[in-house]
Amino acid sequence: MGTTEVLEGVGLKFSGPYLIEQDWEAYTPEQHGVWRELVGRRMPQLQSHACEAYLDGFDRIGLREDRLPRLSAVSARLAPRTGWASTPVSGFLPANAFFEMLAARKFPTTTWLRSRESMNYTPEPDIFHDVFGHVPMHAHPVFADFLEHYGKVCASVSESEARPEALERLGRLFWFTVEFGLIRERGEIKVYGSGLISSHGECTRVLNGGCEVRDFELDAVLNQPMQTGEMQPVLFAVESFDQIYEAAKAAESRI
Ligand SMILES: [Fe+2]
Repeated sequence: MGTTEVLEGVGLKFSGPYLIEQDWEAYTPEQHGVWRELVGRRMPQLQSHACEAYLDGFDRIGLREDRLPRLSAVSARLAPRTGWASTPVSGFLPANAFFEMLAARKFPTTTWLRSRESMNYTPEPDIFHDVFGHVPMHAHPVFADFLEHYGKVCASVSESEARPEALERLGRLFWFTVEFGLIRERGEIKVYGSGLISSHGECTRVLNGGCEVRDFELDAVLNQPMQTGEMQPVLFAVESFDQIYEAAKAAESRI
């Protein structure tokens, strides 16, 4: 275990065993090429259909099209702005470890990259989904506060007692914001959820009116079942990110 890992793990009760270091030097030219192709495919649509916060965050955290990101460099850029870090982990985390990291403003980030054969879809998140899809939003101060607060609410639920129903409802709040969230900007629907940011097919379908877009309302979101592994029939659009921050606070009393 290196020094970075020890420092990263301070105060983390559940997620410590999952923290790893990113071996950036080990990425091959082929992998940098896959990253370049993935980013190159998504950017033209996102330039006109991603929300301002995403595009601003992309520049602020120093993402580049021509090579895979170094997570330490991304975190160094995020730290002075929102205090978030993109923290490398070994893979899928159990719920208590995941929430604990969000509550500590550390985003669990995978370091593996999909192969050229599975450019369009990976069942598990990879570094493209995690960093390209999620991390730019962590540079937005209100979104950053929302995500930390969401982690704290979920951590308290998962620690206090086994309440699978409450966690399922809270999972829907994550799904319909962080993963598949939409926002209205100057009368147009823009995307900010990572599942839409990182998937060309799903994003195109939503922008073309292939799913119903409802105004964001906390109770409606908590009651809307998720369609994992399928196209989304219903998504929710906010007017501003203050709405999801308020929702995370209100969710505490709703579950
Ligand atoms: Fe995700």
